[in-house]
Amino acid sequence: MKKLYGVLGNPIEHSMSPLIHNDAFKRNGIEGDYLPFLVEGAALGKAVEGLKAIGAGGFNVTVPFKESVIPYMDALDPFAKEVGAVNTAVIKDGLITGYNTDGPGFVRSLAPLINGQFAGKRVLIIGGGGAARGIYCAMAKTGIERMDIANRTLSAASQIVADCHDGTPSSVLSLEEAEKSLAIYDIIIQTTSVGLSSLHESPISLMGIKEKTVVCDIIYNPLKTKFLREAENNGAIIQTGVDMFVQQAALAFELWTGISPDCERMRQLVLENLGG
Ligand code: ATR
Repeated sequence: MKKLYGVLGNPIEHSMSPLIHNDAFKRNGIEGDYLPFLVEGAALGKAVEGLKAIGAGGFNVTVPFKESVIPYMDALDPFAKEVGAVNTAVIKDGLITGYNTDGPGFVRSLAPLINGQFAGKRVLIIGGGGAARGIYCAMAKTGIERMDIANRTLSAASQIVADCHDGTPSSVLSLEEAEKSLAIYDIIIQTTSVGLSSLHESPISLMGIKEKTVVCDIIYNPLKTKFLREAENNGAIIQTGVDMFVQQAALAFELWTGISPDCERMRQLVLENLGG
């Protein structure tokens, strides 16, 4: 019998998760169906209980429920607990376990750009929201040399360092301070919502970066944000948000099925869908 999977969010109609997971089920000969579920906040607990009651295999959680879904988990993976957010749930033997594959997905997407050499790298994260938190906690475990966070609201960034600190040296900076010290970083990661659906907005100017800095934006709509265009114009190696999206999905698929999906195929499907 087919197993049910899905993604809980609001809004959810533009999610590309059903597209890539259903394709991966098919290609790997797995009897699974992955559906988008539009959930009203007050019904989140009932939605989770319902999926458990009907024997679903698992689900993803997206905006705005990654934090509020935690009380409905029976168990939490230690990394999800550290980050304080769940984007993937596995239902097994009637128990729901919450995971976070966003941060590890980002790390996996970054690795090929730096030949897996995290040691000695100086990293700047821009943003202090949920996405920054997951990426910070995952990057802090890679052995990088230092990781600073710049955010409009300094207290949000300080809280991330306090909650996720793994011994990686870190400073909290204003956006203006970061702009002045860009040349010291090997990797710059944009995690704010600035530039989402707009070609004309960017959280900081990248005039000051050194050549061959790896510059990533986790936004994938538009595919090439103003931030990435400016990075490219200043000699950076850039990465769009598609790769993180694909890798977080691949890790979720692995948790559900034990199978590593074809990430390049997932990537092509996402790019085709964005192009359309
Ligand atoms: P997500 O879960 O996607 O990270 P979020 O938790 O709402 O979303 O975080 C949004 C991030 O974008 C925050 O870092 C926010 O900065 P603040 O912490 O100061 O709110 C940042 N952000 C949103 N709009 C911004 C703007 N106009 N200028 C600068 N930063 C902005």
